[in-house]
Amino acid sequence: MSREVLLDVKSLGVTFITENGPITAVKDVSFDVGMGEVLCIVGESGSGKTVSLLSVLGLLDRRNTRVEGCVTFRDQSLLGLKERELRRIRGKQIAFISQDPMTALTPVHTIGDQIIEQIRAHESITRSAARERAVSCVKLDCPAQSRHWRVTPTSSLAACVNERLSPWRSRATQGC
Ligand SMILES: Nc1ncnc2c1ncn2[C@@H]1O[C@H](COP(=O)(O)OP(=O)(O)OP(=O)(O)O)[C@@H](O)[C@H]1O
Ligand SMILES: [Mg+2]
Repeated sequence: MSREVLLDVKSLGVTFITENGPITAVKDVSFDVGMGEVLCIVGESGSGKTVSLLSVLGLLDRRNTRVEGCVTFRDQSLLGLKERELRRIRGKQIAFISQDPMTALTPVHTIGDQIIEQIRAHESITRSAARERAVSCVKLDCPAQSRHWRVTPTSSLAACVNERLSPWRSRATQGC
């Protein structure tokens, strides 16, 4: 069976332009991920794992970051896409699960709010319809959590539940 490459990263480089001059955080990184594959990137702290992946998704501040190389996702080049174009892909087709979701999420928002927000960012849908879909997504995966999804702020949830939020959000934008 032929391998279908979903994400192809070639010679990725990231340089931050700082007050003290340019800092190269990532240099000549290449990898690809095929359909159904799991890729694990390991390396010592500060070696550039997070910065690499943030740059792939266009999540670094463009004003002080220079990203080089080629990033192709489903035959589309991601580097150089406008923020508006990236938003159509990000969260729906490709997403980032933070290593430390407790600090990445806005602690006062409920998981329900954060899923609804993402559904409505991708399609024109009423809040109540988005809410219904959000509940069914959480229920499918985690029936016990679905009782609390609307009221519980992310700050009081277990880290493992917060880690699931990103996949729930992505799945919800695809209809569950
Ligand atoms: N905005 C920034 N400006 C300047 N340097 C930065 C910036 N963000 C990250 N860096 C630097 O880029 C390098 C790579 O950081 P990164 O967070 O990607 O490491 P990491 O491999 O994910 O580490 P860890 O395993 O601890 O999560 C570090 O030296 C970090 O200090
Ligand atoms: Mg990291």
